[in-house]
Amino acid sequence: MSNPPSQMNLSPSTRAAQAMHSMDQRTGAVVPGIELASTFARNSDYELRDGFIYGRYGNPTTRQAETVISSLDGSAASMLFGSGMSAFVALFETLDSGDHVVLPQVMYHGGLDWVRRLEAKRGLQVTLFDATDATGLQNTMRPDTKLVWIESPTNPNWEVIDISAAAQLAHEVGALLAVDCTVSPPVTMDTLALGADIAFQSATKYLNGHSDITGGVLSFAKEGPLLDEVQLLRQLQGSVMAGFEAWLLIRGMRTLYLRFERASTNALQIAEHFENHPMVDRVLYPGLAAHPGHDIAARQMTGGFGGMLSLLVKGDEVLARDVARFTQVFFPATSLGGVESLIEHRKTIEGPHSLVASNLLRLSVGIEDVRDLIADIEQALERAQP
Ligand SMILES: Cc1ncc(COP(=O)(O)O)c(C=O)c1O
Repeated sequence: MSNPPSQMNLSPSTRAAQAMHSMDQRTGAVVPGIELASTFARNSDYELRDGFIYGRYGNPTTRQAETVISSLDGSAASMLFGSGMSAFVALFETLDSGDHVVLPQVMYHGGLDWVRRLEAKRGLQVTLFDATDATGLQNTMRPDTKLVWIESPTNPNWEVIDISAAAQLAHEVGALLAVDCTVSPPVTMDTLALGADIAFQSATKYLNGHSDITGGVLSFAKEGPLLDEVQLLRQLQGSVMAGFEAWLLIRGMRTLYLRFERASTNALQIAEHFENHPMVDRVLYPGLAAHPGHDIAARQMTGGFGGMLSLLVKGDEVLARDVARFTQVFFPATSLGGVESLIEHRKTIEGPHSLVASNLLRLSVGIEDVRDLIADIEQALERAQP
């Protein structure tokens, strides 16, 4: 899982485009093959040939994808899982009952659901903080806090959390900082260099970028007992990413930088277009100078503000859902980070307990022609008017 030695100091986009210059040594194929075997034969001395034992423990194609991610994240090791949630579950499984964890009150709802379950069933102590309050995190920290989990920007309000400041707060009490950087992949945010101990991404999203696999990754700043425990949990839970998905992921990551740059440019243009629109109350996008977290975002997202933004439409929940129903270019589907643009009424997706505003539409902006995307939202807004 460690980075292979490189003679040249290549930039991350080159490393991604060439999947770490992977080439089949026998045939010269410039695209790596897929390893689908579920078990691996030992040699005549009954020793492992290349460290691989059994599919549930890991696979050469998955290892290759991990090598690319580890290089982009600058991690000691990166571990791929079959979904973002299975990576999240593995990390939280390392906590003991009674441990104290801190998370934002509005974040990816599946993660919050899991933490609430651990709170009810295992006595995990959970404190949520308000990411709109600059002292929110500080006020929830305790001397015995074990893990701080943050997202930046947070989903789906796109509040920006200062990662270096969060790392300092966590480390002062000996806690670990884990950051969900699904919407701010290493193209734009150097999460571990900013001080996080663990960088998490749903690889389903930007890393893969084509809406055709689910995956998750945990990148660790350091080797050590936590990494070993997560690795063991992944083996025992059987949650490792399979070879075929890993191969698609490698293919997707070849264009990660191009896709992210284009999505960021498109999203900024859409945000600027609708910022003062008569049918839109507010646009939530850290790339806008008026966004309260813009300065921090500009400091820690150096390669673009990404393709995620939300529109608070003027009107109620029914009108907002109508806009999502009436789009013809944006797909009315959940998820994010693909080449195709998606729109969703987030409160419907999250359910009745959601704290998300009922007039909020979340956009995942893809790589299409931005004029088509703007025209599409315009016509849907127009059609939804009472
Ligand atoms: C920010 C964020 N984190 C985590 C997840 C969970 O990832 P997955 O759906 O791959 O399990 C998602 C999925 O939507 C997400 O958007």
